[in-house]
Amino acid sequence: MAERDPAWKVLQKPSQPHDSARLHVSGEARYADDLGEPADMLHLAFGQSSEARARILSMDLDAVRAAPGVVAVFTAADIPGANDVSPVAGDDRLLADGEVICQGQSVFLVAATSQRAARFAARLGKIEYEVLPAAITIADAQAAQALIEPAQRMVRGDAGAAMNTAPRRLAGRFEMGGQDHFYLEGHVAVATPGEDGQIHVLSSTQHPSEVQHLIAHMLHLSSADVTVEVRRMGGAFGGKETQAALFAGAAALVAHRTGRPAKFRCDRDDDMVMTGKRHEFEVAYEVGFDDEGHLLGLLLHLASRCGATVDLSPAINDRAMFHSDNCYFLPNVEVVSERLKTNTVSATAFRGFGGPQGMLAIERVIEDVAAHLGVDPLEVRVANLYGPGRDTTPYEMVVADNVAPQIIARLRETARYDERVRAVAAFNAANPILKKGIALTPVKFGISFTTTHLNQAGALVHVYADGSIQVNHGGTEMGQGLYVKVAQIVADVFAVPLSAVRITATRTDKVPNTSATAASSGADLNGMAAYNAAAAIRERLTEFLARTYACSGGDVHFTPGGVLVGAETLTFGQVARKAHIGRISLSSTGYYATPGIDYDRSVFKGRPFYYFAYGASVSEVVIDTLTGEHKVLAVDILHDVGRSLNPVVDMGQIEGGFIQGQGWLTTEELVYDARGRLLTHSPATYKIPTASDRPKHFTVTLWDGENVEPTINRSKAVGEPPFMLANSVFCALSRAVAATAPDKRAIPPLDAPATPERILKAIAGHRADP
Ligand code: MTE
Ligand code: MOS
Repeated sequence: MAERDPAWKVLQKPSQPHDSARLHVSGEARYADDLGEPADMLHLAFGQSSEARARILSMDLDAVRAAPGVVAVFTAADIPGANDVSPVAGDDRLLADGEVICQGQSVFLVAATSQRAARFAARLGKIEYEVLPAAITIADAQAAQALIEPAQRMVRGDAGAAMNTAPRRLAGRFEMGGQDHFYLEGHVAVATPGEDGQIHVLSSTQHPSEVQHLIAHMLHLSSADVTVEVRRMGGAFGGKETQAALFAGAAALVAHRTGRPAKFRCDRDDDMVMTGKRHEFEVAYEVGFDDEGHLLGLLLHLASRCGATVDLSPAINDRAMFHSDNCYFLPNVEVVSERLKTNTVSATAFRGFGGPQGMLAIERVIEDVAAHLGVDPLEVRVANLYGPGRDTTPYEMVVADNVAPQIIARLRETARYDERVRAVAAFNAANPILKKGIALTPVKFGISFTTTHLNQAGALVHVYADGSIQVNHGGTEMGQGLYVKVAQIVADVFAVPLSAVRITATRTDKVPNTSATAASSGADLNGMAAYNAAAAIRERLTEFLARTYACSGGDVHFTPGGVLVGAETLTFGQVARKAHIGRISLSSTGYYATPGIDYDRSVFKGRPFYYFAYGASVSEVVIDTLTGEHKVLAVDILHDVGRSLNPVVDMGQIEGGFIQGQGWLTTEELVYDARGRLLTHSPATYKIPTASDRPKHFTVTLWDGENVEPTINRSKAVGEPPFMLANSVFCALSRAVAATAPDKRAIPPLDAPATPERILKAIAGHRADP
């Protein structure tokens, strides 16, 4: 374990800029669409379904074939192997086969000499449908009993009995919308045929191995025949964990069938229509509590819109259940998770992976209890925190390093929460039109894939005879700074400057059988695997030097000033050269599997997570009660990344995650019409946060702690947890709405996202209800 190894410590300045920062801002960073195009390259587009659910009666593609620039048109019948681009369940088709299950679904594939020609031709298909009844909303699917899998239950104690004897009791419900990933680089793939049936695919994917395996099955090839490569993605956020396979599969099919290189660069509107999003949730709860706000019994019902196929919905909804406790001890609880199948594009992974939905649900329950008691919600939060003697989750995992209470206490102090609560009340008393709200919410997020076998990683490190180093691992770079963190780890093993380490593209022919870069565990898994690879080489070098200089291994030290061997000092380059001439292997693989995790999904008991990452935030907002508009005025964050591998990169993740969460809960709204067509499929109608939405006052502080588990450098994962810090924005907005009828003992009927319309509706509802 790296932590226990006295020879390994952070020698570099931990705060290093992103390895591609300069290339990103100068435009020199190369994305899949930036590479030169061979003259014979084909460009692709899908013919899409106009119906949400229908049988295909006939397809007339003559006009498509005759359109200018069209070289080939393919349907499901042209796929030699499996017509499958799904991660687990085998139910996502590359091209519709006989029936369509959502609007925008890919039905046929056009290959043309330009992207414009392909897109133009794709609109000329004449498809005759027999339209079938479709379930568009959660309510439709509930009425039709359409599920992607049976409802799951997580139970501890007797929630019903506890509620019956509780001094107080209330019930409520609310909704949260989905979210489009809106990565700046849309989906793209370039497939190049090689000799003897082999194929190379550049894909903007978080999961190169899955794309490789799906293409192999689709084309009747072996995995060894297919190489998938990804140098970087221009953002992914979970949207490229499974969804890239559709475009990579299409490009591979065309390359395979035509023998020409093929590129699929999806148009933005098509990307928004055709690819999965965050799950929309409807939450209903009944809670029994006492006069201090202790949650004695809780029945929580989570219904989610999973879309037309399974995708990762089981694991995402499981994670929602696992996070519906957040930082709170629930002695008697029953969580029921209903996973509804709708004829809309299949929902998929998105930063937090169900965690945000589960966590916001319990925060809403807390706010409701506080409103009922007429106390500040923070008092109810604090009363329910995990603590000594009350430290097991509903799934029976011990909350081992529960720093949430300390983080909350510290932030309460540094952000002057209590003083500002009084100032907000005074402001609201004096202002009839503008109303302010403030909230402090905590985060506890479980780190590990809940599908236990995914928690493994491999790496490959080469030391060249000149002392330069190449590192490769199974993780992908989507802007989160994984590559630079892993390079720092390798540089530190050899005590060489970071500039001596060259980071190379992720490729399935270098490290095989990788997991998706997801669940925030990229650095935990790949960092440790790369550490193990580098440490194996350093061990060989140490042995070799000890032998050569007739000293003991203990007399060999890798230091920033050079390699000390007894009385001699050598440069790392000299050591590498000598070792090469001494016939020592300078290359090694490394492997890591997360220890200690195990749980039984049939009963939702066990230890699904290696550890938890924590944080808390205070948000202050103001709303205009006449227009429903709002502004996030001030945000203070205190967040736990353990002993940071790279503090500036982590701060970037925290800021970015928070703002993305703020967008989910405030402005980003997905609107479907009754036929299941997404109406908000471009930036003109779908509003992500912009620079002006960033709060004027925005502070991020790293909690000064380290991981209790022996992770690399005792760091903690950072990719997803900060997203959920934005819950305080929603809770503050709800408080601001509540201030429009301050004596009322109920929370306002506010749903997410809190668009101006919803805020106005919540004000009206709050003022009107008895
Ligand atoms: N940060 C940037 N800049 N771009 C991204 O696409 N994806 C997030 C997060 N941070 C993302 C990001 C998601 S959903 C995950 S799971 C993690 O990064 C994945 O990377 P990691 O495991 O290396 O943290
Ligand atoms: Mo992140 S949603 O786990 O890709």
